[in-house]
Amino acid sequence: MNNDEKLICMDMGGMRNATHDDNAVLCLGIESSCDETSAALVDSNRNILSHVIYSQIPEHQKYGGVVPELAARAHILAIDDVIKQTLVKAGKTIDDVDVVAATAGPGLIGGVLVGWMAATGLAQSTGKPLVAVNHLEGHALVPRLHATRADGTGAGIDVEFPYLLMLASGGHCQILLVRGVGQYELIGQTLDDSAGEAYDKVAKMLGLGYPGGPIVDKRAQDGNPRAFDFPRPLCDKPGCDFSFSGIKTAARTFLSRAETPLTDEYINDFCASFQAAVVDCIVNRLNNAMRDSRVRDAGPKTLVVAGGVAKNSAIRAAMEKLAKKNNMVFAAPPMNLCTDNGAMIAWAGIENYRVGRVVVEPIAPRPRWPLTEL
Ligand code: KG4
Ligand code: ZN
Repeated sequence: MNNDEKLICMDMGGMRNATHDDNAVLCLGIESSCDETSAALVDSNRNILSHVIYSQIPEHQKYGGVVPELAARAHILAIDDVIKQTLVKAGKTIDDVDVVAATAGPGLIGGVLVGWMAATGLAQSTGKPLVAVNHLEGHALVPRLHATRADGTGAGIDVEFPYLLMLASGGHCQILLVRGVGQYELIGQTLDDSAGEAYDKVAKMLGLGYPGGPIVDKRAQDGNPRAFDFPRPLCDKPGCDFSFSGIKTAARTFLSRAETPLTDEYINDFCASFQAAVVDCIVNRLNNAMRDSRVRDAGPKTLVVAGGVAKNSAIRAAMEKLAKKNNMVFAAPPMNLCTDNGAMIAWAGIENYRVGRVVVEPIAPRPRWPLTEL
């Protein structure tokens, strides 16, 4: 982005509940850990008063992935405007805000620093409490702000602790037992790539662009899921861990034998078959997770998916079916709260503030910060 170029932000609008309460806690949340600069004003009655996302995707597209240095620079140029617009759109000033929250990791550290320093400056200059949000906790808790069924209908599902969570994003792929704010038990995780990474890499091999997840998801809808025999790594083994590298290698092998240029039919079938393998792995691993003694003892009533990959229609549908089979309720964030956004950080800010988890002495943002270290 040039300095003189006008910042193009997406106004995500608000989402209000019937509850209205002047005593509600109002949190300004800031997200900048990857390629979105975003801020939102969310209150403790689960109202999103305003939500602005400036997506850098067009800037990274020509490189086929996020370039950390470019991302950090773009965050610096965008952050002030994104925060200002968030306040203006809600008709609020910084004085109306009760708590400031920002992502303090994990993520691309240049970007994390930008949002974190902005939040620290705002909190210090106004004397407001500050919450250091773990980005993964933002994804993990956002279904408690708003959740829907797999097809996006049924807004208003209440997600209570404990719940079983499939957290699938560009950087992470984990099954977690969420016992409470700051209380995460790791049940399974990927041994190599994340699910989002697998989608992005397969899309790149097919020349479909970045980010690959949404494109592969769309192409898969018109393809034959049985056209290519992708492996289902670890699915014949007990446990809840994932591995996607075998699926990626298979993709490369199939493509090396393909006639070029690839036809639309070939690409659609390829995407559908790849996606079917990913879905089968997720269902297989979650099925084992439900039988894990830690999960059974905790007795979660809700199966939740979160993270960017939670936008995937096939994954949502398959998980909903699995939940029903196991007498559990399925819940997912609405589509606009799955990928990185400021509202999930504001909500995690409120949840942490309510249990007294605020910053009491200066902290350093962390590029790596597992949820189990909270
Ligand atoms: O959570 P997120 O926005 O960023 C990280 O924290 O990593 O997730 C981004 C990831 C990307 O890998 C993207 O390809 C994937 O989410 N994604 C999808 C879909 N939409 C986004 N993957 C599969 N199907 C989708 N519809
Ligand atoms: Zn994320």
